[in-house]
Amino acid sequence: MDKPKVAADSPAQVELEEGKKYAYCTCGLSETQPFCDGKHMSTDFRPHVFTAEKTETCYFCRCKQTGDAPRCDGSHKKLQEPERKG
Ligand code: FES
Repeated sequence: MDKPKVAADSPAQVELEEGKKYAYCTCGLSETQPFCDGKHMSTDFRPHVFTAEKTETCYFCRCKQTGDAPRCDGSHKKLQEPERKG
């Protein structure tokens, strides 16, 4: 697996809590998108672990094409039809 799986072609709204640690899924295999559930273990992908700097509502990438992980940068709009997921 050299490319991440497109988990969905839209971002996920998430509520972050200041000071809390999160693990964002980068492989696209997690069933708890946009967060890691450990399914990357059979791949070379690793989760993007971070601590929220403030409490806020964010939109996290699920197509895994963003250049600003974990946040959506609109890249899902450029996906070709076979890559799209619902
Ligand atoms: S399940 Fe995708 S990075 Fe962990």
